[in-house]
Parts: sequence; C-alpha cells; structure tokens
Amino acid sequence: VPVAKFIIQGGHSLRGTVRSSGSKNAALPIIAATILIDGTVELGNVPNIADIRSLLEIIRGLGKSYEFDGDSLKISGSVSSCEPDRSLTSHLRASLLLMGPLVSKLGKAVVAYPGGCHIGHRPINAHLDALHSLGAKVEESDDWIRLSAKKLVGADLTLPEISVTGTENALLAAVLADGVTTIRLSATEPHVQDLVRFLVSAGADISGLGSHNLAVKGVGALKTPPKHRIIPDGIEAATFAIAAAVTNSNVTIEDIDFEYLAVVLKKFEEVNVNYHYDPEKNTLKIGKQSELKATREFKTGTHPAFPTDLQAPWAVLMTQAKGTSLIHDPMFEGRQGYIRELIRMGADATILDPHRVIITGPTPLIGTDITTLDLRAGATLIIAALVAAGTSTIDKVEIIDRGYENIEKKLQALGANIKRVE
Ligand code: EPZ
Repeated sequence: VPVAKFIIQGGHSLRGTVRSSGSKNAALPIIAATILIDGTVELGNVPNIADIRSLLEIIRGLGKSYEFDGDSLKISGSVSSCEPDRSLTSHLRASLLLMGPLVSKLGKAVVAYPGGCHIGHRPINAHLDALHSLGAKVEESDDWIRLSAKKLVGADLTLPEISVTGTENALLAAVLADGVTTIRLSATEPHVQDLVRFLVSAGADISGLGSHNLAVKGVGALKTPPKHRIIPDGIEAATFAIAAAVTNSNVTIEDIDFEYLAVVLKKFEEVNVNYHYDPEKNTLKIGKQSELKATREFKTGTHPAFPTDLQAPWAVLMTQAKGTSLIHDPMFEGRQGYIRELIRMGADATILDPHRVIITGPTPLIGTDITTLDLRAGATLIIAALVAAGTSTIDKVEIIDRGYENIEKKLQALGANIKRVE
C-alpha cells in the first residue's frame, strides 16, 4: 500500500452536491454470503474501497472469481478452500464473516485472528458462541480459530450481546443448517437488514426482519438471487452533512439511508443544525447555519440509537457549538484518540475516562500535522482540518481509504482545498 497523506487548506465553506456511495458494512457481509451461493451473484452500488477489495481477494483465494466494474460486482464460482489467506485476513476484522459461511458450506474453516480498527477490546465471543450453538466444534490457538461441523443444526441461541457482525455470522451459518434457528439479541442495523433481504432474495427463509429476534428455517440450498443494490452508506452521508454544517456550507447529499440517519437528524434539530430532508428525492440539504448549540445528552448505542461510528464527527461539530457537550460512547473504549488531535488544533476538550469526553465551544481550530488512528477518526480529522484556519497535514491516509470511496475527489467537487500526496 503506497504511503500517502492529505494536505488540507481549511477555513473555507463548501458548496454543491455529493452522492453517498454504497455501505461498506452492508457490502462486506453480503460478499461473504456469496460463499453460500454457487451461481453468479450480481451486486450494485458496491463501494470501491480497500476493505471491499481485500475481501474480494480473500474469496478469490478460496476459489471464487469476480469482476468489479464501476459500482457493479459479479461474483461466480464455488469455494474449494476453507482457509482464507492469513496476510489478507489479518488486516480486516470483517474476515470473521467468512467463518459462518465456510463452516456451513465446506464443514470447516480456519481463520486467522483478524485485524481492523484499533478502537478497543472487541471480543469475538458472540461469533464463536453462535457457531458453537449451531453445532460447530471450535478450536483456538494464539493466532487462528478452527471450526468444524459435519452439518450445522438449527438451535435457539442468544447472543452474549447485541453484536452486528456476530448476528451476521449467525445468520450466514443458519440459512443452510438443518431445522430452525432463533437468534435472540440480534442487531437491527440497516446493514444487518440488507443482508437479511439479500439472503431472502436468494431463497433463505428468515423472519423477524428489523427485530432483535430473527428466526431462520434452514433450506437445502440457495439459488441465484436477482441483482441486489447495496444500501447507501449512512455514515458517509452523515460525515458530509456534519462537514457542511461545521463549515457553514450549502451542500446537498444524495441517496440517504433514512432509517440509519433518523436519529442523527433528530439530534441535528436539538443542536440547531439547519437541514432539510426531502423524502421524495431522498436528499439531505444542509444550509447556512445560525448558532449551533451544545448537546447535553449524547450517548451512542446499537441501532436505532445514535451510531458509535458517528461519535467522532459529532465531537467536531460540538467544538463549534455554544456550550458544553458530553460525548459518551459506552461501546468502544479506544475510540477517543482523535480528541488529543482536536485539542492540539485548539478544541477545548477534556477526556474524562475511556468512554466520555466533555467539549466546550465554540473554539476556533488551527491547522496542524495530524495522525489518523482509525477509519472514522480519520474522516473526522478531515472535517476538523476543513474547519481549521491554515494548513493541516493528515498522514496514514490508507486507513481512511479502507472505508471512504474517493473522499478527496468528493470533497474537491464541493470546493474543498484537499490534495493527496503519495
Ligand atoms: C460492526 O462491528 C461494524 N463493523 C463497526 O464498524 C461498528 O462500529 C460496530 O459494528 C458497532 O456498530 C462492520 O459492520 C464490519 P459489535 P462489530 O460486535 O460487529 C461492544 C467501522 O468503522 N458492545 O456490534 O465488530 C462489544 O463488546 C466499523 O466501519 C457493547 O459493549 O461490532 C464489542 O467489543 C468499526 N455493547 C464492540 O462493542 C453492546 O451493546 C463491537 O460490537 C454491543 C457491543
């Protein structure tokens, strides 16, 4: 991966229209699901980002083939290997999603402990617990997990906590298992729902869409589904919306995942962000702002609560809001590293403990050299650099490229002064 940085000249407003790309966190499990289907699967609105390209290379190594053209993806063939490439999986937490489909399809999976964002202790017991309940034998070493089962058998299982990819793995294992599986404490995020809709369109029997109790009746095989359009990326849309609000810009964002963003728009009202959502056109317009106000009560949670993936952009918004805001993220304990960078840029922020930060605003931000720590923090620091007076340099851009398609081109089209330097 070439080492690159962004150089951003901040302090200007943006103007224009930007379109959301497809959702990374919907596309990843759906690509993993194609392991269960032997025919050709066609997907649309697939984001061309590093995490997706990595997963596609991993499933190619397992025996599949693919063509990725624009945002259209065709995946064909069958898996013959149960052991994903370790050098690729070690960078991608989503490679955990291969465990369920591989053990279901081939009776065996050997997966290296995955990497991904360093945002705290992220146990995988929800995954292993679910697969074990369906009859898989689980063996672990220091750096790999081996799962085996002659045939998975449906069970009434309760996830140890509401886990997004844990729910997805359980679903992927259950659709071809013998009998009925109940998944209690299922996650309900729109990307989990997109996976359910995709599997159902391929002949899976799943009920309880959008609820915390999914029931899966095992079927003998899945068939070739009709072309599936991946839902738009609500995280990306909200990131652009917050970038626009905080730079006092007129920006329209197209292709909105309203189910994901409803809570964010509600919070926008509370802090006085001037926005207009048009359900007919499915666009979100951010207009010129009057005074932004602090959020007294702010806590992330599982869907439909405020998403943890938007905690960091929200904090930048609060640096420009009048009053004192509490940012509370009970989920991840390692997701506040970016706060130190914001403080260096001039934010008045105090880290209370691994889950809570207090921010008092508004304070002007000043451009500087900043280091990105995880995917969402990286995008957040871009927003901060757009607000800040002067020049900022953001390094480790490859972390941002994992999850945002052409972020600097999209921002340039809105008039931002951002350059990629290899
Ligand atoms: C998914 O990760 C996403 N990844 C993450 O997005 C996202 O931050 C996360 O869900 C939460 O929405 C993908 O979809 C590929 P978890 P996942 O198991 O499935 C604790 C991004 O930037 N927790 O749902 O790994 C739990 O113990 C990535 O795109 C609670 O404490 O996440 C675990 O350590 C980063 N309480 C951690 O959170 C809860 O109620 C992760 O949860 C639920 C979870």
